[in-house]
Amino acid sequence: MTDLPPSEADHGEASSPSRGPAGAEVVTLVADRLVAGGEAIARHPDGRVVLVSGALPGEQVEVEVRPRKGALRGVVRRRLWASPDRVRPRCPHVAEGCGGCDLQDLDTTAQVGAKIDLVADSLRRLGRIAEPVVTPGPPLAPWGFRTTLRVAVVEGRAGLRRAESHDVVGIDHCLVAHPLIDELVHEGDFGAADEVVLRVGAATGERMAIAMPTAEGVVLPPDVLVVGADELEAGRRAWIHDEVAGRRWRISAESFFQTRPDGAAALVDVVRSMSADLLAEPGRPGRPRTLLDAYAGVGLFSGALLDGVPGWRTVAAERNRSSVADARHNLADLDAKVVATTIEHLRAPRSDLVVADPSRSGLGRAAVHVLASAGASRVMLVSCDPASAGRDAALLAAVGYRPVESVLVDLFPHTHHTEVVTRFDRA
Ligand SMILES: C[S@@+](CC[C@H](N)C(=O)[O-])C[C@H]1O[C@@H](n2cnc3c(N)ncnc32)[C@H](O)[C@@H]1O
Repeated sequence: MTDLPPSEADHGEASSPSRGPAGAEVVTLVADRLVAGGEAIARHPDGRVVLVSGALPGEQVEVEVRPRKGALRGVVRRRLWASPDRVRPRCPHVAEGCGGCDLQDLDTTAQVGAKIDLVADSLRRLGRIAEPVVTPGPPLAPWGFRTTLRVAVVEGRAGLRRAESHDVVGIDHCLVAHPLIDELVHEGDFGAADEVVLRVGAATGERMAIAMPTAEGVVLPPDVLVVGADELEAGRRAWIHDEVAGRRWRISAESFFQTRPDGAAALVDVVRSMSADLLAEPGRPGRPRTLLDAYAGVGLFSGALLDGVPGWRTVAAERNRSSVADARHNLADLDAKVVATTIEHLRAPRSDLVVADPSRSGLGRAAVHVLASAGASRVMLVSCDPASAGRDAALLAAVGYRPVESVLVDLFPHTHHTEVVTRFDRA
């Protein structure tokens, strides 16, 4: 691929199609903005939308276009005008095809801007919010942050999958991994495992490796707690601890925890500052106010928001048994009830504040109805997918919740993934 230096010359034109060597259509396009999957959206000369992988917003590129998965997809052959925000990826494994960081060639500040545009676009199109307000949250370190990393294993060594492929690229270091994990990536012998989840406590230094399907033959430093998926299946429990928001958290092998503790703290800070007026209002004696913490995981939002806040209790609802057990342990010092259930089947308690942090697919209609039945004046939605943030915004609006503002918390630099916290007030 030829990279020309950024120039204003011939920037902004889409050309007529021709044919490439393999018969694919070749066109020159101008990439507009990034969309939820990390591709850039562009217009074919005939007006159709093309999703282009490998192009940054504003770039003029020559692409091979093919129909795939119900859309036109373009792969960059030549870059005719490069974005001034394009940078050389710092990690050598990007050039080898590692699919772990699909945005390393975009300057980190510009990444946040591109993700804000992406979220705003989704809230506009899917959420039907005319003028969404999306601002950046606290800045987070762009390197050495991941305290959970899932690696693929080839001949005992760690690797990461190529983008949209099962092929594995061997890695000797991972620049986004926390140093306590990177050491394991570099030195670990992962034996007969196919995949391994590495998890560490940044504050405690505790380390764990969960090997799938088995931990047979895994050789790691003696401090690392090694457990096979087969052992977990047979009932073994294994956990580490980390610290976030001044509290210590037990995190079991099969429980969800945010991929970085500073990111978890940033999410808590954003939710807390957007709910500060409510949290400052204590309940009456014997009648505490209620937080409904939906999709509670190991109890992060309940524990971090209500620690030291008098007059509040929490009902934390979560479906994963391992997370429920951790949440009961982690919230034992608070007025907390942890309910093992799917949100869709929860009998929601009368609540003053709802925090909902669903998985990537979002809340969906059934859960929105359950959460609305709690009657809270505010819902704080923590979304890890811009498209589901948009869809959920429309569903919440339909049951009477008005979006007020969104804050982007960029937990996953160098990838198209992001978190966004949106405040909804009952209209
Ligand atoms: C993104 S995590 C958030 C966890 C927690 N709030 C945190 O920040 O650590 C989503 C959690 O929702 C749980 N979950 C997913 N679908 C669910 C459902 N339908 N009902 C209840 N819990 C669900 C998952 O097990 C996971 O623990």
